[in-house]
Amino acid sequence: MTQDELFKVLVAHCKEYGFIFPSSEIYDGLAAVYDYGQMGVELKNNIKKYWWDAMTRLHENIVGIDAAIFMHPKTWVASGHVAAFNDPLIDNKDSKKRYRADNLIEDYLGKIEEKMDKEVEKGRKRFGDSFNEEQFRATNPNVLREKAKYDEIHNRYMAAEAANDFAEYKQIILDCGIVDPISGTRNWTDVRQFNLMFSTQFGAAGDDTSTIYLRPETAQGIFVDYINVQKTGRMKIPFGMAQIGKAFRNEVVARQFIFRMREFEQMEMEFFCKPGTEMEWFKYWKEQRLKWHENLGMGAENYRFHDHEKLAHYANAACDIEFKFPFGFKELEGIHSRTDFDLGNHQKLSGRNLQYFDPETGEKYTPYCVETSIGVDRMFLTVLSHAYTVEQLEGGDSRVVLRIPAPLAPVKVAVLPLLKTDERLTGKAREVLNLLKYDFACQYEEKDTIGRRYRRQDAIGTPFCVTVDHDSLEDGCVTVRDRDTMAQERVPVAELRARIDAKVNLNNLLRNL
Ligand code: GAP
Repeated sequence: MTQDELFKVLVAHCKEYGFIFPSSEIYDGLAAVYDYGQMGVELKNNIKKYWWDAMTRLHENIVGIDAAIFMHPKTWVASGHVAAFNDPLIDNKDSKKRYRADNLIEDYLGKIEEKMDKEVEKGRKRFGDSFNEEQFRATNPNVLREKAKYDEIHNRYMAAEAANDFAEYKQIILDCGIVDPISGTRNWTDVRQFNLMFSTQFGAAGDDTSTIYLRPETAQGIFVDYINVQKTGRMKIPFGMAQIGKAFRNEVVARQFIFRMREFEQMEMEFFCKPGTEMEWFKYWKEQRLKWHENLGMGAENYRFHDHEKLAHYANAACDIEFKFPFGFKELEGIHSRTDFDLGNHQKLSGRNLQYFDPETGEKYTPYCVETSIGVDRMFLTVLSHAYTVEQLEGGDSRVVLRIPAPLAPVKVAVLPLLKTDERLTGKAREVLNLLKYDFACQYEEKDTIGRRYRRQDAIGTPFCVTVDHDSLEDGCVTVRDRDTMAQERVPVAELRARIDAKVNLNNLLRNL
């Protein structure tokens, strides 16, 4: 199966097993908006709990908040989103399709990089063990020619971006001969700006003064609440504020399922520190966040840092943690050193004093801030795309299993009476269920053969199936089946809780951080 096909199968699986549905599907859905079903919401809540506890319980100096989605419109002027949260758009006049001009240029640059990599691979095959990649890249005429082309376009692109020069964006697209993938033509409109914020009317006045925005990031709720939390919580710098909540962006190109949505959820933490110490904290949070990801056991090789050359309007350093999705390495989380940009601007526009008084040194300053920001939905996709496995079994059979990290699994235990027609078995199974349900998310299933029920639980990623059979009535033991190894073991009912807990308790994950 190609990665593309695998991705399509994953999307279908998400729908079939109640993880994710297109929003308002009975009306044919709404582009780039999705609903989480009965399994999806549990997995999503577990991801959020892992993040929330790691931030607020494991760090004495991080507290949480839950700010409103609606915020005073001046918030978005201070944050720079009204002026600068734009995508450069271009339309092809023949296909009538709309594209992000920067994406067209970046894809073009990506293709040049691919050509260079192919040359390098050819060289590697030709020279075998004696191959020196650095020397090859510095001397091979084909690579050098492509590199010169890359540098020229890249430099023009960077300069155009810095100057917000949209005419130059278009010129680059024309000079590079970039064609519309659908019509195949170069019949482009001019490039223009498109603000990504959704706006709506607040109250009944219905004029311009009542226009407000749906927040495009949760971070600003933290900045405007900073002084309240600092004072009421008697917080000392350095300290952090964490928040999980919805964010909204009118994405121009919304694709790849829940990777890029118009309504999504973010988990953001703003860490306030003394100016001059921000690079130390930036490094600290890069390491901490990578550790949080790797702790899930989804393969260290599937993550990488990508340090930004081009910085957002508020940052003096920025880095992404990228994950290897089925469509390649892509941003999963951003770590930004935001300086005093946000607090400074809110201070100016609101006229409120947001300075910190350091009781130890007697200094006053506007704190600097290091942010960690991850999309819940993107994290969900990370977990699911890594978990989805089709396994060949002995005897030519196959099974689909979601190898979700056990503490995140939507259902932890399925309790299954061997036969639904024997009340002694169903009664005993319900007893076992009542014993476990206060500690674990459980499912009780009695329909179909045991084999089919195991397959259904594999397909939603349930780490344990507990089967009650006739022997259970005599010896007080049940059969515990492990999702990953499919091994079955007789376990006394009295030991069940401890056995399951050792594998599925979220605290075990937190202890390793
Ligand atoms: N406060 C900083 C901020 O919002 P960002 O890089 O624009 O930075 C942070 O977004 C994270 O939010 C991303 O790394 C990604 O995980 C998630 N995210 C951003 N836009 C998204 C979208 N349209 N759909 C799903 N997740 C998104």
